[in-house]
Amino acid sequence: MKLTASDCTTCHERTKRSMAGVTSEQCLTCHTADLGTVSDQVTFPHEKHIAAGLDCEMCHQGVADKPHREFARSATAVPKFGHEFCSTCHGSDVLAADGSMPDGANCAMCHTSS
Ligand code: HEC
Ligand code: HEC
Ligand code: HEC
Ligand code: HEC
Ligand code: HEC
Repeated sequence: MKLTASDCTTCHERTKRSMAGVTSEQCLTCHTADLGTVSDQVTFPHEKHIAAGLDCEMCHQGVADKPHREFARSATAVPKFGHEFCSTCHGSDVLAADGSMPDGANCAMCHTSS
């Protein structure tokens, strides 16, 4: 694919402003939903979460609050990959914060065989 300078600014100039009022669908005009493989040990199907109807902002907190460039460099832009974050929705399947095993936890949902 060949891009001209003005094609670059279509996306990059917009990042001077915040993404307040931008729908998840509109986020995907610049971003791709499929991140590919993010870890050898853990399955994280980013695109399935989006297809399930979760708003980007549920996980990418503060995206409406700051100019996008600033947001992109903020601590909350990309969630820290691990139990603490996943447990906000999958709490009954991950190890509890004290390391104890919840009854009937489905570790294999995320942890691929190894
Ligand atoms: C369709 C929208 C789009 C177009 C067109 C586009 N970019 Fe980007 N660019 C992005 C997105 C989205 C990211 C952030 C990628 C990520 O981290 O997910 C990015 C990231 C970058 C980065 C890294 C920024 C950083 O701070 O890490 C550079 C450099 C860049 N683009 C340059 C360019 C240039 C040069 C062009 C024109 C040839 C261009 N882009 C065209 C959307 C676009
Ligand atoms: C007009 C194009 C555009 C739209 C719309 C857009 N983004 Fe971005 N986004 C970018 C670019 C370009 C960057 C890279 C900025 C930089 O590094 O300077 C970026 C960076 C990010 C990052 C940081 C990525 C990383 O690798 O650290 C996240 C997360 C993100 N955007 C989420 C979103 C969400 C959520 C929405 C919708 C609410 C959205 N974006 C809408 C262009 C866009
Ligand atoms: C269920 C939570 C969740 C939802 C919903 C979600 N994301 Fe993410 N996203 C993540 C996690 C976790 C990562 C970091 C994965 C990793 O560590 O590589 C991520 C990474 C990203 C990145 C950085 C990609 C990179 O290569 O570094 C961008 C951009 C992004 N998401 C955009 C979006 C957009 C746009 C939406 C909505 C259309 C969205 N996300 C919805 C959890 C989510
Ligand atoms: C904001 C809530 C939320 C967060 C946070 C979240 N998930 Fe999910 N996850 C869901 C929902 C909802 C589904 C059901 C999607 C479907 O299958 O329709 C799901 C489904 C899944 C699935 C099964 C997908 C399939 O193929 O059926 C995996 C694996 C998964 N999540 C991994 C993770 C991991 C790893 C994390 C942390 C990095 C995470 N999730 C964080 C809400 C979340
Ligand atoms: C919702 C997805 C998900 C489920 C379910 C899950 N994990 Fe994890 N687990 C992760 C993620 C994400 C990481 C961080 C991996 C990385 O950093 O690459 C992780 C990391 C780990 C680690 C490495 C140490 C650490 O805490 O970072 C161990 C051990 C672990 N998980 C055990 C378990 C066990 C045992 C279960 C079942 C009770 C379980 N996990 C269920 C997503 C999950």
